[in-house]
Amino acid sequence: MIGVLVSGTGTNLQALIDARLPIAAVASNRSDAAALERADAAGIPNRTFALESYADREARDRELAEWFQLRGVDLVVLAGYMHLLTPAFLDRFPDRIVNVHPSLLPEFPGARAIDDALAAGVETTGVTVHYVDEGLDTGAVIRQEPVSVEPRETLVERIHAAEHRILPEVVTELCAH
Ligand code: GRF
Repeated sequence: MIGVLVSGTGTNLQALIDARLPIAAVASNRSDAAALERADAAGIPNRTFALESYADREARDRELAEWFQLRGVDLVVLAGYMHLLTPAFLDRFPDRIVNVHPSLLPEFPGARAIDDALAAGVETTGVTVHYVDEGLDTGAVIRQEPVSVEPRETLVERIHAAEHRILPEVVTELCAH
């Protein structure tokens, strides 16, 4: 069963829901994440684990991991989750946590990947699905898809379309293992 971590609008979560993947739980660090409404609409248990409610990041991550494990989660997908995870969470799901990122990693890690690619003047950027470790977008790459920067007006839309296509594909394959 899959656990999905979100912080934002949740279009990647929606792509996983639409692919009929077995999502057991959705968790967010923000109670105002629109992604939680998508989970509600799909009848998926969801909960917010706000950092402010815990002594520290490890305590938050421990409770989050326990909540997932109680629901049978054995594969974790970060779909626009904007916090780094500590070993308190990572060690519970060895080699079973993946993230989707809007660049061809290791180029342009971090929260502003599309803007950074534009500022660097590259002709091609893209999308990466990778394993998650303690670093910022540093884990081993599973799949990448290039996206040309031009036409620039539709770059964001084309990157998201690529994410919504390859993330469910990779997750489907990982579910089979
Ligand atoms: C996506 O572009 C993802 O690659 C990045 O954050 C964005 C999340 O969008 N990590 P959404 O919440 O899935 O709509």
